[in-house]
Amino acid sequence: MRVSDRISRVEYAIRDVMLHAREYQKTGKEIMYLNIGDPVAFDFKTPKHIKMALADALNADNDYYTDSEGWPELRKSVVNKEKGKKGLELTPEDVLITNGVSEGLDMVMGSIVEDGDQVLLPGPYYPPYSSYAKFYGGTITEFKIYDDGTPDLDDIRKKITHKSKAICIINPNNPTGEVFSSKSLKSIVDIAAENELYIICDEIYDEIFFEESFSGIGRMAKDAPVVLLNGFSKTYLMTGLRCGYVCMNNNSRQLDPLRQNIFKLARVRIASNFPVQIAANAALNGPQDHLPIMVNKLRYRRDLVYNRLNDIEGLECIKPKGAFYMFPKIDLKDKWKNDLEFVIELLNSTGVLTVHGSGFGSMGSGHFRIVYLPQEDILNKSMDKIEQFVKNKNKDL
Ligand SMILES: Cc1ncc(COP(=O)(O)O)c(C=O)c1O
Repeated sequence: MRVSDRISRVEYAIRDVMLHAREYQKTGKEIMYLNIGDPVAFDFKTPKHIKMALADALNADNDYYTDSEGWPELRKSVVNKEKGKKGLELTPEDVLITNGVSEGLDMVMGSIVEDGDQVLLPGPYYPPYSSYAKFYGGTITEFKIYDDGTPDLDDIRKKITHKSKAICIINPNNPTGEVFSSKSLKSIVDIAAENELYIICDEIYDEIFFEESFSGIGRMAKDAPVVLLNGFSKTYLMTGLRCGYVCMNNNSRQLDPLRQNIFKLARVRIASNFPVQIAANAALNGPQDHLPIMVNKLRYRRDLVYNRLNDIEGLECIKPKGAFYMFPKIDLKDKWKNDLEFVIELLNSTGVLTVHGSGFGSMGSGHFRIVYLPQEDILNKSMDKIEQFVKNKNKDL
């Protein structure tokens, strides 16, 4: 039986490497998972008051369908965060609660992308951005980011065509951990506004940064068509609970058609998980003290991995400013055909599982992505193995 052409355009490198890992698992040897950005799978646990709110919601029988747009209390709390703290002009009616940022991204792309539309993405980018854009008939074009995390504005301008529909920003970025400055954000907002493009901005790592402060797009948005995606998976350690949201800049009249239509999609899928929305509301309104603890632990692990990797001849990486990923460049020479071969050979000879950079777009090729969430002993053991693996290969040459 035939399946749609559309489905063949979907790929997700981060999970695709798991197929190789399953083969390796059959050998019975240990795998070190540095491939999936799930803090809860490591020693970062959902704060107790969030789990209690979830349990209480279930015990109080609050597990029926709620409003398709989201539970009104949570929509208000999202406004308090994104408007009150981060400066994006919003009312609760501009907020849609979703089962994770992933569902929000699907709905946004499904609402705006038509056949042949071009979506601009930072190179490299988080893979669902290209998968959903292509699934809905669009094409993608990557724009360059300099090593210091500044987007190449001329590259963006050069790549805009009459088919361009949206510019996406992932800030802090996955897989590089780059953080955009407010100046860069403002310039992108201006370019998008001049060219009547949507700005889709993903701030799921907005509380995980290692510099003094983080500026989101909110204060830069003015009346531009900014669609902000955010969620609870990373900063509130709720990956498996699945809760996120879409915010549409209330100052933008260009967003009125999206505002009037996206909620139709929300109604088709009835509602997002109600008990989890109650837990998410407790997350936003409850104690935030897990955040500095998490960020300090991550800063230490980032520095460990950064120093260890940069000491290996043939690998080079830039210090990430946010999130929990590192994206080293591989000196491939004649040692490996490409980054995928590097990642598979590394897995098969050491058990260290990472993701090939080309899975994050063409600008990611020649790199691999490491998640530095595991505890120090596992990180050190993995770094020893990577070091030995690269050294052996250098010797063979
Ligand atoms: C940039 C970015 N956006 C969205 C997601 C997925 O978010 P959610 O768990 O809310 O679907 C991830 C997960 O790694 C991510 O890195």
